[in-house]
Amino acid sequence: LGVSRREFLLGTAGAGAAFLGGGLIARQANAANFTLPITSLDHTLLPETVTRNMMGFGAGGPPPVLRMKQGKPFVVDVINNLKEPTSVHWHGLRLSNAMDGVPYLTQMPIEAGETFRYTITAPDAGTFWYHPHCNTLEQMARGMTGILVVEDQEDPGFDQDIPLNIRDFRLGGDGQFIDFYKPRLAARGGTLGTVSTVNWKTDETHDLPAGSLVRLRLAVTDVTRVGTYDLTGFDTGKGAAQLIALDSNPLPAPQAPENILLAPGQRADIALRVPDTEGQEVLLTLQTAKGPRLLAKFRSVGTSLNRDLKELRPLTPNPVPEADLANAEVLEFVFGWSPGGDAPKPSFCGTLGYTFWSINRVAWEGDSPDPVDPLAVMKQGKSYILRLRNETQNDHPIHLHGLSFRLLRSNKRELPPLVTDTALLQSKETMDVALVADNPGNWAFHCHVIEHQKTGLTGYLRVE
Ligand code: C2O
Ligand code: CU
Ligand code: CU
Repeated sequence: LGVSRREFLLGTAGAGAAFLGGGLIARQANAANFTLPITSLDHTLLPETVTRNMMGFGAGGPPPVLRMKQGKPFVVDVINNLKEPTSVHWHGLRLSNAMDGVPYLTQMPIEAGETFRYTITAPDAGTFWYHPHCNTLEQMARGMTGILVVEDQEDPGFDQDIPLNIRDFRLGGDGQFIDFYKPRLAARGGTLGTVSTVNWKTDETHDLPAGSLVRLRLAVTDVTRVGTYDLTGFDTGKGAAQLIALDSNPLPAPQAPENILLAPGQRADIALRVPDTEGQEVLLTLQTAKGPRLLAKFRSVGTSLNRDLKELRPLTPNPVPEADLANAEVLEFVFGWSPGGDAPKPSFCGTLGYTFWSINRVAWEGDSPDPVDPLAVMKQGKSYILRLRNETQNDHPIHLHGLSFRLLRSNKRELPPLVTDTALLQSKETMDVALVADNPGNWAFHCHVIEHQKTGLTGYLRVE
């Protein structure tokens, strides 16, 4: 509070200059690796029904999968063909702050008709995703969520790689969008979609060579749904199918691909050895109160290539620094109700008109045009333990931009020692996570249930 936009632009570690001069391009000589137009479009999401007024990336249809190489700069020109401002955030990437895509915090919104050049260098390999951070609920709900793959420096040896963009749409019986949220639900667990899709299809099916090795990259890009996923129908023996990474980071030991709990923003990589028997189906399902819901089908075709999961090179751990726990400072964050009534506050380009949630008893004050103070300031290079306390009954997938952290412990359950960018806090759960504050800048810190993010559960941490 009390920082004017001008002071903010000039004051933040040179980021102002970088985004005033660097990102917005009018005429630039050198070509981008990729052009990402953002447009409104109509698309056949349901059989024989055209859903109108979707928003998407790319030339039309589902958002393209962006593929880049670990450690190599990737230049993408985002062209805003919408009639409203937007921005693009690269979820999970530990990139430089000026490229993080958060309006007013790291860049100005990309206005209608403007092009913004993002130069992204991904230090980590794995499955990531991208989405807008401006009018976020509506733009994501209308379709703007895509998968980003950072390819491993050393090829693990799969025959094929299949990104699975898992999300719902809130459509009425006529296939058109209905209200993106209900205030009463935004104040609780959030408003679920009505139609489940994978890669914008309700019947995603892949024919795969029998006996081949396939990497399934699941990314839950939904605005609300916390779900549990299972892969079934694969053979046993030869390893068959294994969960090998969560939120872009390899698991220390592979696990069975069942009961995979994923909140909005989270990812899971599965190594699947396609069954030998022609026609055999492997199914990806979501657990629901009414039993498993089929999301995608993988069908074995042809004579077996007869590969074995043991032929895969184990994934290399990402170069995320380990926190020095003995000397780490503890920072506490409480995620709770908003104490401030329901006065509407802006939240990253536009407001939903309600305030329900808070961090450390304060609802996000809004960012337009002035950013608020950081929730905490961390010293570059120092280790921290973030103590994340959910004092509500609802799930809150807490996401930090620009830094990855390691899960340490929970008051409710055994936690695997995973490295992640999004920690799912369940009802009344307190979790300790640890990080090294090695990436300078202002990093958004928020719940990834977008209705929560947009009604108060947002803040940012500063590393300087
Ligand atoms: Cu995917 Cu600020 O988030
Ligand atoms: Cu993010
Ligand atoms: Cu939440």
